[in-house]
Amino acid sequence: MTFEEQLHQMFPTADAIPANFLLPEEIHQREYLSGGEMRPWNGDVHTVLSPVAVQTPEGLKRKVIGSYPLCGQTEALAALDAAVLAYNDGRGEWPTMPVSERIACMDKFTGKMIAKKDEIVKLIMWEIGKSYADSVKEFDRTIEYINATIDALKDLDRNSSRFEIEQGIIGQIRRSPLGVVLCMGPFNYPLNETFTTLIPALIMGNTLLFKPPKHGTLLHYPLLEAFASCFPKGVVNTIYGRGNVIIAPLMESGKINVLTLIGSSKVANQLKKMHPKVNRLRAILGLDAKNAAIITEKADLDLAVKECVLGSLSFNGQRCTAIKIIYVHKKVADAFIEKFSAAVGKLKIGMPWEKDVFLTPLPEPQKPAYLQECIADALANGAKVMNENGGTTFESFVYPAVLYPVNDKMKLYREEQFGPVIPILPFDDIETPIDYLIQSDHGQQVSLFSNDADELASLIDPLVNQVSRVNINCQCQRGPDIFPFTGRKDSAEGTLSVPDALRAFSIRTMVATKQTEENKNLLNEIVSEQSSNFLSTKYIF
Ligand code: G3H
Repeated sequence: MTFEEQLHQMFPTADAIPANFLLPEEIHQREYLSGGEMRPWNGDVHTVLSPVAVQTPEGLKRKVIGSYPLCGQTEALAALDAAVLAYNDGRGEWPTMPVSERIACMDKFTGKMIAKKDEIVKLIMWEIGKSYADSVKEFDRTIEYINATIDALKDLDRNSSRFEIEQGIIGQIRRSPLGVVLCMGPFNYPLNETFTTLIPALIMGNTLLFKPPKHGTLLHYPLLEAFASCFPKGVVNTIYGRGNVIIAPLMESGKINVLTLIGSSKVANQLKKMHPKVNRLRAILGLDAKNAAIITEKADLDLAVKECVLGSLSFNGQRCTAIKIIYVHKKVADAFIEKFSAAVGKLKIGMPWEKDVFLTPLPEPQKPAYLQECIADALANGAKVMNENGGTTFESFVYPAVLYPVNDKMKLYREEQFGPVIPILPFDDIETPIDYLIQSDHGQQVSLFSNDADELASLIDPLVNQVSRVNINCQCQRGPDIFPFTGRKDSAEGTLSVPDALRAFSIRTMVATKQTEENKNLLNEIVSEQSSNFLSTKYIF
């Protein structure tokens, strides 16, 4: 049997899919949440096809998971109006609600979300082909993120529950919401990354327009009832439809105060420019990245191989933090490539529900062809596929291709492949990878592999001014979520750790007065009567 035939066999017949991983039925969403109500939809819909294809007498067919509304500008603008109304120029119920009550709403939402875990996890798996184990991890990590966000907000509020006196001025300093937030998440972490912006934006008192990712839309459907019942009317509004149709009028309205997007810098730049008053728009963005691994001749090669396999191929390389280019010192390049290719050969390929599966089908329909294009371009410019079966593609599955030696004429040198293709370059002067990072449009992270403290120190100092995280002897990654997650150049705008995100979606605001007897009495009266939610010394326990 050829390897391609093996890949064909990997796709199941319908009755070979284990019943406990099946969705009970197709999900045909014909409603959306806007202005506090589930609004019926009878217009066009988008059919959701899984990256998992099923063997049928007519050949392989991608499994239909369901469909969702393809709304238009009218519905998007109505949802915008609902968010604007709920914010009500900062006088709405949600932006003026005491922090403790907002936290109570979020706690209630979390409880309802946990009740939907099984359905959401299966939808992550079916919609984007993420392994079942990683889909469970994504769900659990999101719950942990929400709980950590609640704890961080309690801390923030406790520290703000007091007056400060400086140079005869009494002040109370808190953080206030910014307004209406347009929130768009990515397909690769459709729940987790979307919620790392949506949850802090929400809990800080903003109102939301939420557009679920193109791949990974249906998994949000089970949460709409919870959004509707846990938060005041119009605080969370969903918008569905083609981004290029519905987003422009929202931005052009000038009524979006915050754009938060995990996606491409090209799209982010286009959207920002549409806002009529750019100075009124805050952008919190997680964008492109091309993280490099640099393996020096003093590296522990086995460790470097292990971390580079995880870094470049977890979820088939579809992570913004993935290692997307590897620089290896000439003296150890052959040994590294041999070990690396052997390790890739041991990774289990298969369907997302299979135990210990590592490599799975890809959700973007055009991705296999794009990766083939990158591979062909690399081969035409002098690279070779170094691993057995590297690059073999069947339907939605692409077997990893290890390419060497890659050079600056190839697409893979600069483009973010976001898939299971690993470009490797040799170097003998450490200035070569440093210069690559300096010239790069990206500046998210780097992974350094060396066991020499002096060598590491000499790399750390130049590289911390190129990227936002230098990983030593380990792969690049976002977590733990309490650590800052950001990037330079085209890789990010704003910082998204649990506490940083609360700051990103709010603005410091203070109430101040001169320290006179009359003013002190006024402040005391407001505080003791608890007549203001902002000017308050109430402590959240
Ligand atoms: O796609 C980018 C994600 O933020 C990566 O998160 O490094 O935890 O997989 P991760």
